[in-house]
Amino acid sequence: MKVLLVGNGAREHAIAERLAQDAELYSVMSKKNPAIAQLSKEYWICDIENAESVSKAISGREFDLGFASPDATLAAGVSDALAQTGMLVASPTKAASRIEWDKSYMRNLLTRHKIKGSPKHVVVTSEADARRAIKDYGEVAVKPLGLTGGKGVKVSGDHFTEIDDLADYAKGLIEKDGSALIEEKLVGEEFTFQCFCDGSRISTMPPVQDHKRAYEGDAGPNTGGMGSYSSGTHLPFTRESDIEEAKKILQGVIHAMKKDQAPFHGVLYGQFILTAEGVKIIEFNARFGDPEAMNVLPLMNDSLTNTLLSMAEGQLSRPSFSDDCTVVKYLVPDGYPDKPHKDACVDIDAHGMEASGAKVYFASVYEQAGKILTTGSRAFGILGRGKSLDEAEAIAEKGCSFIRGPVWHRRDIGTSALIKKKTDRMLSIRGKK
Ligand SMILES: Nc1ncnc2c1ncn2[C@@H]1O[C@H](COP(=O)(O)OP(=O)(O)O)[C@@H](O)[C@H]1O
Ligand SMILES: [Mg+2]
Repeated sequence: MKVLLVGNGAREHAIAERLAQDAELYSVMSKKNPAIAQLSKEYWICDIENAESVSKAISGREFDLGFASPDATLAAGVSDALAQTGMLVASPTKAASRIEWDKSYMRNLLTRHKIKGSPKHVVVTSEADARRAIKDYGEVAVKPLGLTGGKGVKVSGDHFTEIDDLADYAKGLIEKDGSALIEEKLVGEEFTFQCFCDGSRISTMPPVQDHKRAYEGDAGPNTGGMGSYSSGTHLPFTRESDIEEAKKILQGVIHAMKKDQAPFHGVLYGQFILTAEGVKIIEFNARFGDPEAMNVLPLMNDSLTNTLLSMAEGQLSRPSFSDDCTVVKYLVPDGYPDKPHKDACVDIDAHGMEASGAKVYFASVYEQAGKILTTGSRAFGILGRGKSLDEAEAIAEKGCSFIRGPVWHRRDIGTSALIKKKTDRMLSIRGKK
């Protein structure tokens, strides 16, 4: 089977690794990811956020199955372009991925179909309305409706405290995009719950907790994600009923989208937050998470190729997952995220890495004259896997030591100290109710 993958980050490296196990892999990338290139029978470099350029890159070639992975690629209609060439496609159409690229559509969909989990929210088109909503809700999140690579949301208390600053930020968004979304601020622990979807059914993956903040102790600016952990079918702070509630919301969305004539075939990512009032939804993504893909894909007991095929055909197979724990730590360039050290040479001790049991996924790095160099973004995802979180964390940490150069990582992700902080916090939030 010939499978075409579009994308070139660490998430796509994790996808490529699984696909290459039982399919002939081909890939389209915006920049050459050395690891994906090595796994691919052939690859093409082009603008993957442009459907026409992807179509041109693969013109005259035939594939059985296609998977477009990054958010901007989906929003550009690349899944639709792949389908036009006659292959089966396991990633959502541009219309279906609207659940991610239009937060107003997403909130409306939940309201219209009476799906629980939304905070109070309003889309505003004037500064006066923004100010009114901010005053009305007290603490808020101010959001652009579209994609911003995880860097567009400002939250009361985290980024701003003054109403004037929040209103100013909303005003800027309105001037740029015509509107902004104001939501009531939710307080709790966030978690990621991903599922495979075939247009009407879902099959869930293990829940994961990502760490968006740059620095240890969850401080500093938001990033694309510094690392994540999973611990089987539950996280240390979730209860059975929380996971069931989240699953109902995911299933509700898939039913709603089918009814709305925008059936969703692909990976649906629910970004949930567990609050004193139960499970709420922050947003949906129409794709695997990055880093979360590195946590869950290696745990799949069944073929990813077959699972994608079953999603594309509308005949969902339900892959099972190992109960092992995982910890992923992202190595990022020195100075990241504000002033990242670019074009710096990093050295990987592949033997040491292998002997440690850790796995390295290539993110935003490139090759020149046989050397690996950093760009300004996250460079490598290091995965540790074990029977306990402690074991997985120690392996990930050891793995990080086999990459030498001007890169750093959050040592606290997956440690028992940080996890205890999160479970204690959740207990206290639940207790307050
Ligand atoms: N209503 C909210 N209450 C509290 N925090 C929020 C809210 N909405 C977003 N956030 C915070 O902002 C982050 C980014 O918001 P999100 O809606 O996921 O946008 P993005 O598209 O940038 O990922 C979330 O991970 C969460 O930490
Ligand atoms: Mg998000």
